[in-house]
Amino acid sequence: MSTQSSAPVRRLSITDLRKMKGAGEKIAMVTAYDATMARLVDEAGADAILVGDSLGMVFQGHDSTLPVTLEHMIYHGAAVRRGLARSQGRAHLTVDMPFGSYQASIDEAVKAAMRLVAEGGAEAVKLEGGAEYADVIQRIVRAGVPVIGHIGLTPQSVHKMGGYLVQGKDSEKAHHLLRDARALEEAGCSALVIECIPAELGRVVTHQLRIPPIGIGAGPHCDGQVLVVNDLLGMDGAFKPKFVKRYAQLGGSIAEAVGAYATEVRSGAFPA
Ligand code: KIV
Repeated sequence: MSTQSSAPVRRLSITDLRKMKGAGEKIAMVTAYDATMARLVDEAGADAILVGDSLGMVFQGHDSTLPVTLEHMIYHGAAVRRGLARSQGRAHLTVDMPFGSYQASIDEAVKAAMRLVAEGGAEAVKLEGGAEYADVIQRIVRAGVPVIGHIGLTPQSVHKMGGYLVQGKDSEKAHHLLRDARALEEAGCSALVIECIPAELGRVVTHQLRIPPIGIGAGPHCDGQVLVVNDLLGMDGAFKPKFVKRYAQLGGSIAEAVGAYATEVRSGAFPA
């Protein structure tokens, strides 16, 4: 009988992610929405997994994130948590607070955040918005739940923004975004996602904050990067925003594999 037991994996905490900034190490974050993908992404070496409300678009097929509910996020968070329980990686797990779960009242926001932790397996929650959410963030953090802020292009405000547009382009808007970033740090956020802003603004935000900004379409200077896993894997050949890099062409591979299977079923070549 072997006397060696494999040491339990020590997963990265939100404090570890913050320390990575100080150590000059970049954070590699990627989304996942189900147990299998969570295990694959975790074992491949991601530092952080985000159960993003982007699942409304890439998983549920909506044209925005607005129809995603708290129950959906809990369901997918719990699935991802089960995947991580079977994997050998070390990724930290953040779950998005969906539209309508934190805007109406602070008490509702705190309860929603606590459900994402207790039932959805989250170690941190992420919510969209600037200084106007400082009090909400303070209360969630006071309840013991780490918060990641999200500014720049905030998809839950698509109607207010008039589309999925680059933010912070003129100097007044850039200053406003910088003020929001500082207010979120002050309110107790452990990290920030900054989405679709000019690279120079991404650099300034990153330089000015003690917490790590994680960018998506925010240039190369951020303390980390986040991509939607379906985009990174090239699942949808028709969708490629400028800031996405496809590291695989799985959409094509899936079509090829399923096509070959269908052909063989029809010809009788499978099963042999
Ligand atoms: O919902 C999501 O996946 C996100 C990332 C794109 C940052 O918020």
